[in-house]
Amino acid sequence: MKVTVSRKAHFNAAHRLYRKDWSDSQNNAVFGKCNNPNYHGHNYEIIASVTGEIDKETGYVIDIKILKDIIKTEVEEAFDHKNLNLDVEEFKTLNPTAENIVVVIYNKIKAKLKSNLALEVTLYETPRNFVTYSGK
Ligand code: NI
Repeated sequence: MKVTVSRKAHFNAAHRLYRKDWSDSQNNAVFGKCNNPNYHGHNYEIIASVTGEIDKETGYVIDIKILKDIIKTEVEEAFDHKNLNLDVEEFKTLNPTAENIVVVIYNKIKAKLKSNLALEVTLYETPRNFVTYSGK
């Protein structure tokens, strides 16, 4: 019997989508407004869902306080009020699309979980646009 435990969190961050090795016109054609050289911000929302067996002693899949603290350290403190391109090591060489951000977040949280727990992360870049990654 497996149960999924989820925690929501939030961060504000700026980014710019572009490739240094592309011309301005190619970047504009592919990334449009998201290629604005002066960056732009998003109110990102994340949902981290941890799935596993219920521990017989505690009744928990994971103590949600542990999940909360992992998200605080690995996501909120790392990304909140940052310029993703300039301030966050992972995106100095990786375009900070929602797809790439969700994979980075997944990898950071997964590394802190017990290996028998499965993880899925959903990242909302806007209330209507969101991406999901579960390590597949
Ligand atoms: Ni954007």
